[in-house]
Amino acid sequence: MYQRDPANLTTLNGVDVCVCVTGGIAAYKMCSVVSTLAQAGAVVHVAMTEEATRFVTPLTFEALAARAVHLSAWSSVDRSDPQHVRLAKACRVVLVAPCSMDMLSRLATGRADEIVSLIVAATDRTKTPVLLAPSMNETMWKQPATQRNLAQLMSDGFQIVAPVEGWQACRTVGDGRLPESDDLVDSIVTALNRA
Ligand SMILES: Cc1cc2nc3c(=O)[nH]c(=O)nc-3n(C[C@H](O)[C@H](O)[C@H](O)COP(=O)(O)O)c2cc1C
Repeated sequence: MYQRDPANLTTLNGVDVCVCVTGGIAAYKMCSVVSTLAQAGAVVHVAMTEEATRFVTPLTFEALAARAVHLSAWSSVDRSDPQHVRLAKACRVVLVAPCSMDMLSRLATGRADEIVSLIVAATDRTKTPVLLAPSMNETMWKQPATQRNLAQLMSDGFQIVAPVEGWQACRTVGDGRLPESDDLVDSIVTALNRA
């Protein structure tokens, strides 16, 4: 449940939003994000990597968004194919959260071999903001490869929703925690207002 001023959410009414979930422990927070977006009147399209489905079931997102979840480039949930192109054109903003270390690496090198990276690849970032919210253990976050990929992605025009310091599932306190769901919703609203 969104705990801030509900007036913040008016921008979302009737807007197509794509929420892409990858395989990170913070995937559970995306249930709240999708619920808030849906309650604000957004048309929420959820896509999940195969690994993401190990953390949260597609059924949960399907119920919260009231629409089928995109799980594969090869199984169309809508009639009009190719779905990734249609989706990328329809959505006014794309959020990848949690964005795994592996997904950062794939996006930084332009891979498009599963549904999430394919949707991102089909999104014209000059028109549609693509927000990446990385989330991982502090050691993974501080890896030179992660930082190198982030620098590349920022220079390629992706917007990074920076992780915060806090409790991590590995039972340490450190940097790399996914921001809270209200912060993620606010980052979508800010991106929409700016675009
Ligand atoms: C229990 C568990 C928790 C994980 N949590 C994270 C995480 O928080 N962040 C991350 O980048 N990777 C995490 N991983 C590793 C990713 O799931 C793995 O790199 C996977 O290949 C990512 O796939 P995807 O990017 O296609 O979703 C975790 C793995 C396991 C087994």
